Amino acid sequence: MKSLRLNTIASFIEPLDSVADIGCDHAYLTIFLVKNKLVKKAIASDINQNALNIAINNIKKENLTNEIPIVLSDGLENINQDTIDTLVLSGMGTSTILKILKKVEKNKIKKIIIQSNNDLYNLRKLITKLGFYLHEEKVIYEKNHYYVIGKYLQDKKKLNKQELHFGLYNKDNQSYYNYINTELNKINQKITFKHFKEKIKIIREINLLKKYL
Ligand SMILES: C[S@@+](CC[C@H](N)C(=O)[O-])C[C@H]1O[C@@H](n2cnc3c(N)ncnc32)[C@H](O)[C@@H]1O
Repeated sequence: MKSLRLNTIASFIEPLDSVADIGCDHAYLTIFLVKNKLVKKAIASDINQNALNIAINNIKKENLTNEIPIVLSDGLENINQDTIDTLVLSGMGTSTILKILKKVEKNKIKKIIIQSNNDLYNLRKLITKLGFYLHEEKVIYEKNHYYVIGKYLQDKKKLNKQELHFGLYNKDNQSYYNYINTELNKINQKITFKHFKEKIKIIREINLLKKYL
């Protein structure tokens, strides 16, 4: 698979996982997982029939029509959670992701892989209310953009404030270090435009961030 982002998502999947790729778009990830026998089973689902039509064609080209069920669904609405234990939600925003996850049946889903396009603080914070905890995170840089990909497992543990803001820092991951530096630059730029009260908030954020560097 060409996309480093999708390859990184796939790296969190284990051979015994039964995966539903929610918002699969053209089903590149699902096809990659099934074609390379990296999963027990995988279904591809999207809210958009046009996207699914392209997915159906892509799956057909790979002779995987009998192996990859396609489900038209708004989030988990039409997904039978008896048949899966792992979710992938990638390329969507945090509010959509959290809305979809409200329908998770906790006794059935053990792992969720998420790549949200925005608001990682609220994602990391609010997902704990659903009983999931961020266990591992990877940052990758592709097409001039940093992508943060997280593996969430069922767990009652909570992240500390620093982790909620900036994730699970992994010093071996150079992209994470670069990402944190970029965040720091963004915050430093913001500060000149803000009022005193907000500046204090931002300075606290900078101090939290600097602990990573
Ligand atoms: C930017 S694409 C990302 C595709 C793929 N997951 C990836 O990471 O490359 C977002 C996809 O999510 C789908 N989507 C958005 N809201 C959804 C929802 N509530 N339920 C299912 N799919 C949704 C869109 O139709 C679109 O195909």
